[in-house]
Amino acid sequence: MLLRKYLVKNLKMKPVIPYYLIFGCFWLGIFFESAKHILVHSDAYPHKWEKLYLVHHWPVTVCKMSKNDCKDPEMYWTIHGLWPDKTEDCNKTWHFNISELQDIMGDMKQFWPDVLHPNHTSFWKHEWDKHGTCAATLETLNSQKKYFSKALEFYKKINLNSYLLKVGIKPGSTYYELAAIRDALTSVYSVEPKIQCLSPEEGQLQTIGQIKFCLTKEFTLRNCTESTSISSSYHEHFFKEEELSICNDTLTYYPSHLHT
Ligand SMILES: *[C@@H]1O[C@H](CO)[C@@H](O)[C@H](O)[C@H]1NC(C)=O
Ligand SMILES: *[C@@H]1O[C@H](CO)[C@@H](O)[C@H](O)[C@H]1NC(C)=O
Ligand SMILES: *[C@@H]1O[C@H](CO)[C@@H](O)[C@H](O)[C@H]1NC(C)=O
Ligand SMILES: *[C@@H]1O[C@H](CO)[C@@H](O)[C@H](O)[C@H]1NC(C)=O
Ligand SMILES: *[C@@H]1O[C@H](CO)[C@@H](O)[C@H](O)[C@H]1NC(C)=O
Repeated sequence: MLLRKYLVKNLKMKPVIPYYLIFGCFWLGIFFESAKHILVHSDAYPHKWEKLYLVHHWPVTVCKMSKNDCKDPEMYWTIHGLWPDKTEDCNKTWHFNISELQDIMGDMKQFWPDVLHPNHTSFWKHEWDKHGTCAATLETLNSQKKYFSKALEFYKKINLNSYLLKVGIKPGSTYYELAAIRDALTSVYSVEPKIQCLSPEEGQLQTIGQIKFCLTKEFTLRNCTESTSISSSYHEHFFKEEELSICNDTLTYYPSHLHT
């Protein structure tokens, strides 16, 4: 009965509907316009992250992964980046400005080189755009100089190169059980870093490529929990690092030359 009454009423009102429609659309339009504004606006802030990765890479392996003809890859672990988890590209209007790195240029070139190209600028710009703009929500990292300096400071503090040598793990034509590398690192740092490898070519062994240390927002080392690594396969990578994956528990090359 009720339904019928409703239908009748509506039928009777039919000629009026276009006005409702036009009027309704108008308000609906206003509503979505402001909703869109709110969404876009809030989109500038939800870049929440929990920990930082200080990523080291092994230049010989980076060169192996590239078609680029590296002449003399560094024979020490260099910085790939300082990456907040869970977020990327947080502020597209905050442009990279190389002048801000003037005071730390010596260290930047030595410890944070673009392994593949003589001009490091576009690598550093990439790191700033993709990761630095997100890290900058911390006051301790809220300028380009602070961000790059802090990464350098931590790289030196972690001192991966000398600790590896100290425990007798050296690059060369020999290979290691992954567990030996992992246990050595864990005993030195009391945390377990993530170790990434290049998958083996046929009949070969995996090759160590990257070591990621996890840091709290207060810059203390912490264990990396497995779960929350950002899935960034759809993002642009600088060094084809999508070819790296968590190393398997097998024999592992730590090469000193491009061709082993
Ligand atoms: C993005 O960067 C610009 C330029 O540095 C700055 O003015 C703005 O506040 C930043 N926005 C956010 C959400 O941090
Ligand atoms: C880049 O940084 C330098 C040094 O801090 C500053 O003088 C200059 O104005 C900046 N340039 C731009 C385009 O922001
Ligand atoms: C390096 O590349 C940047 C742009 O990517 C350019 O502005 C700069 O002049 C280059 N530096 C040298 C020394 O070639
Ligand atoms: C990290 O995990 C290891 C066990 O894998 C544990 O022994 C160590 O205490 C942990 N370190 C921190 C700082 O939580
Ligand atoms: C580890 O083993 C899995 C399964 O065999 C394989 O898919 C993956 O590519 C291997 N990873 C590396 C770094 O070799």
